[in-house]
Amino acid sequence: MTKRILSCMQPTNNLHLGNYLGALKNWVHLQDEPDSECLYGVVDLHAITQAHDAEKLAQSTREIAAAYIAGGIDTKRSAIFVQSAISGHSELMWLLATMAQMGKLERMTQFKDKAGKNAERAGLGLFAYPVLMAADILIYKATHVPVGEDQKQHLELSRELASTFNTRYGAPFFIQPEPFIQGQGTRVMSLKDGSKKMSKSDESDNSRINLTDDADMIARKIKKAKTDAEALPETLKELEGRAEALNLVNIYAALSGKAAADVVAEFAGKGFGDFKPALIDVAIAKLAPITARMNKLLADPAEIDRALAAGNEKASVIAEKTVRETREIMGFWG
Ligand code: TYM
Repeated sequence: MTKRILSCMQPTNNLHLGNYLGALKNWVHLQDEPDSECLYGVVDLHAITQAHDAEKLAQSTREIAAAYIAGGIDTKRSAIFVQSAISGHSELMWLLATMAQMGKLERMTQFKDKAGKNAERAGLGLFAYPVLMAADILIYKATHVPVGEDQKQHLELSRELASTFNTRYGAPFFIQPEPFIQGQGTRVMSLKDGSKKMSKSDESDNSRINLTDDADMIARKIKKAKTDAEALPETLKELEGRAEALNLVNIYAALSGKAAADVVAEFAGKGFGDFKPALIDVAIAKLAPITARMNKLLADPAEIDRALAAGNEKASVIAEKTVRETREIMGFWG
């Protein structure tokens, strides 16, 4: 095994098109890499860093696992695990926290966005979130981490923590994970505002397409998506400054597997009255089968629970070994 691919999502609300195009779609392709092993986690410990509904957490975890499977993760080849079921994540997080610099954590843009104006009152968990993420990655000695662009800064911190540990303890123990940020969907923007990324936490449901949306809902949201009055130009470059138009072109490209430049050329001279119906068609063709599969899995969650139990078992063998060895290197008793 030369590559170990690891990535995770939080069970906060449903997955949206950004999560699918920026991450899950790549996870599915990476399963075909030769000499590789894939582990995909549902990070419920991260989900509690902001107010959460305890009654819904376990169900949300199942829903995310269902989305992974419905989106194409093959549980025979890849492990799907639940972060909180593997205690090593929390333990390694503490060990790494002793090496994480406050100043670096303060500069994390996701922390700044989520903490808002009142950072003084933000929880320690939200502040230390990237250290737990580093633990998620380093515990599996992951070589590649497929994520959307918004996770780049967190990944940089994971790489630094691996290197700090190795230097401090004089052992080439942790692997510096490579970010895998590829494709046209690495930064899918809001359908309402081309300057904001599509996000689970946006107040407006019309800003995103959820993987649970049915065909009518997808069509309605795309029809309502913000655009401008101009026709599509001949080249991608000419879309500069037209953030909403560019976003829809990128979404079309990512969903259809075409290059964005080819999509622009195909629709050159046409307005959104022509482009949107075509986008609706590709979105429904791609997403409706995923939604249907997800609903089927959730109607009888036994299959999901079985997959998670098997995934947890596989992941915990790797995680326990790493934690045991980390403790030895750090000099703990026993
Ligand atoms: P989360 O749950 O916010 O998002 C899951 C994945 O979706 C990607 N993503 C997007 N990609 C493109 N456009 C968007 N608008 C968009 N919104 C989200 C994210 O980049 C991510 O890949 N911190 C992580 C979860 C995490 C993790 C890890 C990831 C915890 N531990 C270890 C990798 C490895 C997060 O909040 O993702």
